[in-house]
Amino acid sequence: MAERIYIFKRFERFWHWSQAALIMFLMLTGFEVHGTYNFFGYEAAVDFHTTAAWTLVGLWVFAVFWHLTTGEWKQYIPTMEKVDAMLKFYLTGIFTDAPHPFKQTTVSKHNPLQRLAYLFVLVIINPLIWTTGWFYLFYSSWNDWGVGWLSLEWVAFFHVAAAFMMLIFLIAHVYLATAGHTATSHIKAMLTGWEDVD
Ligand code: HEM
Repeated sequence: MAERIYIFKRFERFWHWSQAALIMFLMLTGFEVHGTYNFFGYEAAVDFHTTAAWTLVGLWVFAVFWHLTTGEWKQYIPTMEKVDAMLKFYLTGIFTDAPHPFKQTTVSKHNPLQRLAYLFVLVIINPLIWTTGWFYLFYSSWNDWGVGWLSLEWVAFFHVAAAFMMLIFLIAHVYLATAGHTATSHIKAMLTGWEDVD
């Protein structure tokens, strides 16, 4: 039996999709700056990338404020409970119609693997991409800041490494987004707020 529960509030859905759009646009422009292909033209790609990066900074300020004031940050506290069951489910259970080991509720809307994955994005990928991005932006101030000894090659290397990690996250995230009650139920839930759960 499926029931419907209201999981994602309005700001959360806005924040999720605008962040998704910005990150995809940052990838599109970032990998052009990197020289992977030619789409907007190098100069335009740099400008777009910088504008999108600052927009993401603005969005993040609101998102952090929202998570802190609503207490929703607690959804990201990691747990190892049932992680093995989730892994087993994604590796085999999903192909044999086994029951989902995790029951979504409004107080606990992410399964344990999701919690770990989002925490990894939050504490590893994002800080890496932001700090290197900022060092990139303020390259001309490095001497004034007393960090003239930093290497642009290393900053670029870590920025691109984080960009690849984000790409891998995105691919896995889109795949697992189709692993709900039906192939589109998670995606619909992120659009409407309402999720079908077993
Ligand atoms: C998901 C987010 C992001 C992705 C996927 C991404 C990806 C990339 C890639 C692949 C490059 C090319 C690097 C190279 O080959 O040297 C780049 C350049 C750059 N990124 Fe990002 N980036 C992201 C977020 C950010 C953020 C948040 C900032 C700033 C706070 C930023 C600032 C820059 C700057 C300044 C450059 C150099 C552009 C230039 O040549 O002037 N990026 N980015």
